Amino acid sequence: MNVPKHVAIIMDGNGRWATNQGKKRSEGHLEGSKTLEKLALHAIDMGVEILSVYAFSTDNFKRDFEEVNYLMNLIVKYFNTKFEKINKKGIKVVVSGRKSNLRTDVLKAIEDIEEKTKNNTKGILNICFNYGGQEEIIDGAIKLAKDINNGLDITNFKREDFYKYLYHDLPPIDLLIRTGGEQRVSNFMLYQMSYSEFYFTNTYFPDFDKSEFNKALFMYENRDRRFGGIVDKESK
Ligand code: FPP
Repeated sequence: MNVPKHVAIIMDGNGRWATNQGKKRSEGHLEGSKTLEKLALHAIDMGVEILSVYAFSTDNFKRDFEEVNYLMNLIVKYFNTKFEKINKKGIKVVVSGRKSNLRTDVLKAIEDIEEKTKNNTKGILNICFNYGGQEEIIDGAIKLAKDINNGLDITNFKREDFYKYLYHDLPPIDLLIRTGGEQRVSNFMLYQMSYSEFYFTNTYFPDFDKSEFNKALFMYENRDRRFGGIVDKESK
């Protein structure tokens, strides 16, 4: 099977999943976090090397204080106590996003999970938190500008050279999945998805289980990736 090396998921539909069942939106996020844990373990079993997920965008701060606070508390709880299976599986957890505006306990939980899992080699779970794709490119451009000021020669600077200026130096996304019925990218990993295959599903994220994930993998296997050329070859 031709398994995508890097899969990214826009985990949408938690709120609607909850509302449809007469539950509070926060219960949708809680169910979504359980789904995420199961999917991360499953993705690695299927041969995926990197799973990137959109857990909180820079624009999600526009939501009610109660919901923002719930998501912050949820991530702290998961990082501190619930990611043991992820760690045992040998998955390295990295967090991408801006560190400004985050509470100190959230920053500490991020630091701890990254430290605890840093030597794991079975796969990578990249959690995008307080994340924006344009912001990542701007932050990378600022780092590059500093290097140029310090004498970096950019005469032969290529698009693949920019990856190391992003939050984490991860390969391009092969397959982007968006649950919840919308068909847009919502400022997610813009630099990394230039040649991604897209898979959209109406399924709300809490219901996006292993078999739903496998459907996306099967679809990917049948796509003909040409990267702007006429034969199937890697872009990076
Ligand atoms: C979008 O659904 C989802 C989010 C803004 C949050 C996603 C977060 C999780 C799945 C939990 C992450 C947990 C950890 C441990 C990283 P929505 O609320 O916009 O749904 P709606 O479109 O139906 O309202």
